[in-house]
Amino acid sequence: MCGISGVASFHPIHDRLYEGVHQLEYRGYDSCGVAFVENRHIEVRKDVGTVDEVDSRANLRNLEAHVGIAHTRWATHGKVTRENAHPHVSCDGAFAVVHNGIIANYRALRERLQQAGHRFRSETDTETIAHLVEDHFRRTGNVEAAWVATLRELEGSYALAMISVHDSDRIYCARQESPLIIGVGTDANYVGSDFNAFIEYTKNAVILDDGEYGIVSKDSYAIKRVRDGEVVEKPVMVIPWDSELSRKGGYPHFMLKEIHEQPQAARAALAIENSAILALVQAMAEARRIYLIGVGTTYYVALYGQYLFAELADVDVLPVSSDEFRYLDKSDPNTVVLAISQSGETYDTLMSLRHAKERGAKTAAIVNVVGSSIARLVDHVLLQGSGPEVCVVSTKAALAQMVLLTRLAIELGVVRGKLSRGSQEAACDALHRLPGEIETLLNERSGLIRAAAYRHAHMHNWLFLGRGIYYPIALESALKMKEVTYLHVEGMPGGFLKHGTLSLVDENLYTLVFVPPRESGELYTLTVSCVEEVRARGGFVIGFAFDPAPGLFDEIILFPPAHAITAPLLPLVGAQLLAYFTATALKRNVDKPRSLAKSVTVA
Ligand code: G6P
Repeated sequence: MCGISGVASFHPIHDRLYEGVHQLEYRGYDSCGVAFVENRHIEVRKDVGTVDEVDSRANLRNLEAHVGIAHTRWATHGKVTRENAHPHVSCDGAFAVVHNGIIANYRALRERLQQAGHRFRSETDTETIAHLVEDHFRRTGNVEAAWVATLRELEGSYALAMISVHDSDRIYCARQESPLIIGVGTDANYVGSDFNAFIEYTKNAVILDDGEYGIVSKDSYAIKRVRDGEVVEKPVMVIPWDSELSRKGGYPHFMLKEIHEQPQAARAALAIENSAILALVQAMAEARRIYLIGVGTTYYVALYGQYLFAELADVDVLPVSSDEFRYLDKSDPNTVVLAISQSGETYDTLMSLRHAKERGAKTAAIVNVVGSSIARLVDHVLLQGSGPEVCVVSTKAALAQMVLLTRLAIELGVVRGKLSRGSQEAACDALHRLPGEIETLLNERSGLIRAAAYRHAHMHNWLFLGRGIYYPIALESALKMKEVTYLHVEGMPGGFLKHGTLSLVDENLYTLVFVPPRESGELYTLTVSCVEEVRARGGFVIGFAFDPAPGLFDEIILFPPAHAITAPLLPLVGAQLLAYFTATALKRNVDKPRSLAKSVTVA
C-alpha cells in the first residue's frame, strides 16, 4: 500500500520524482507529496488528491534539486488531509521521511518524543520516525548512526526513505515486511516501493531484505544490516519487464489494455517450463493436506482451483481466504500451502505463508512480481510472467493464474492415475487453443458486450449465478463489476438462489447467468433451471452461454465453442469487459476505483 519513489542524480531531478510517484499511483492515491533539499533547507510540497491534482496546485515537476523523495498515500493512520500526507518532517525541518506500512509501537514513541518537547503536526505513525531521527541525531551528530538507532526502535512493518540537510547528497532507506528496491542507473540511482518507480530509467535493481537499510547517492549505493551494521553484498538483477508495457499503449485505460493482453498472459503461463510445474505437483502428490490461499480476486482463483483439482486429479484442496487462514490453519510437515498473489506482497497472504512455514508446511506460490516477498519466501515458486498489471483490479494476472492451476491439476491428475495420456493431451491442446479463442472473443464480442453494458448501466442491483466451476467464475466476475462500477453485485451458486436470495428478484434486479456448454449434461440443465426460476418471478436474465437457446434468456451473449476445461475462462473475459464498459458508461475511475489499492500490504 502507498508508493515510495526517490532519486539521487548527477543532474537536476526535473520530472523524475513526479514520474516515479505517477507510475506508483495504483498503490494508493488519496494524497501525495515530494521533498527535496534546496539551499541547505528541505522543501516539502504535498497535498490531498491525485498526483496530477497535487502537481497542478503545488508543482511537483521542474525540480532543480539533485536528491529527493516522494510518496503517494493510501490512508491507514489518520484521515486524508494535507497534514497527514507524506513526506513528514522533523521539528527542525532537517529530516524528511516517507513510509509504507504501519509502525506498531508509534504511540509509545510519540508520547516519549512529545514529552521530550517534539511538536507533532499530523496524526500519522510516520511522523514519529522523522522526530525520532532528529532526536538520535542530536545525540550522535551522524545521520547514518541516527538512522540505524531509529530503525532499531521501530516495531511493525515499513519501507522507508529519508533525506536530510545534514547529508544532502544521499537517500537513506530501509525495509521491514514492506518492499523496497534500489534502482541502479548510469546518471542516477533510485529507490522505489516497486519497479514501476524507476523502470523508465533503469532495469537494474537490488532488492532489500527485511532488516536491511540502504544508503543511496548519485554514483553509489550500500546495503547494510540494521542488526550489526555489516555490509551486505547483493546481486543486481535485471527486471524482465518492458517499460512500454507499463504504459497504456493507446488504450484509454490500463484495465482495457490488460484485458487485451490476456492472450499474451495465457501464452506466457503456458510457456513456463514443465519441470517447475512437475516439482510442485510432486510435492502436492506427497501431501496429506493442500491449502490454496489468496485474497480478493486470488481467493476466487483459489476456489476455481478447488474445482479443477477435484475434477482433473480427484484431489481435495482447501481454498482459504488468506485473511481467515490463521483461524483454520492445521498445517504440519505433510501440508502444502499454495498461495496465489499477483503482487507477491499482500500482507494477509504473506503472513499466512509464514504461519504455515513455522508449523513445518511446504510452501509454494503462483506470483507475478519477480523478487517479491512471497516469491522469495516459498519453497516452490511459479512466476507467471504476465508482465506489469497496473490497473487496480486484476484481469490478466488472474486469468494466467487460472491457466497455471489448470496445468498443475492436469499433471497431478496424471501422477495420480486419474487422467489418461489421451485426456492429458486433449486438455493440453485445449489450453494451447485458449489464447486464440480469447483473441477471437475480444475481436468479435467486445462490441456486443459494450452495447449491453451501456444499455443496462442504469441497473443498480445484479445477481451473478454459476454452478460447479462456473460458481467461482460468477464470484470473480461479480467482484470485478463491484470494484469498478460501485454497483451492488452479488455472486452465488445457482443452486443457492432458491434458499433465500430469490426473494430479491423483481424488476429492480438483473441476473447474469454463466451457462456451461450444453454437452456438460447435468451441469447445463441444472444451470438452465436457475434461469427459469428467476424468469418465473419476473426477473430479467442475461445469459453468457455457448449454445443458442431461443426464448430462454431476455438477452444472450454467445461465446465461441471451447473445450470443457477452458470454457469457463471465456465468459470470465466477457464479464471483465462488461464490468469495464459499465464503469465507463457510469464515468467511474476505472484504473483506480475509489477506496481500493492494488497491493494491500497491511493487515
Ligand atoms: C487487493 C486488490 C485486489 C487483489 C488482492 C490480492 O485487494 O484490490 O484486486 O485481488 O489485493 O492481491 P494479490 O497481489 O495478492 O494478488
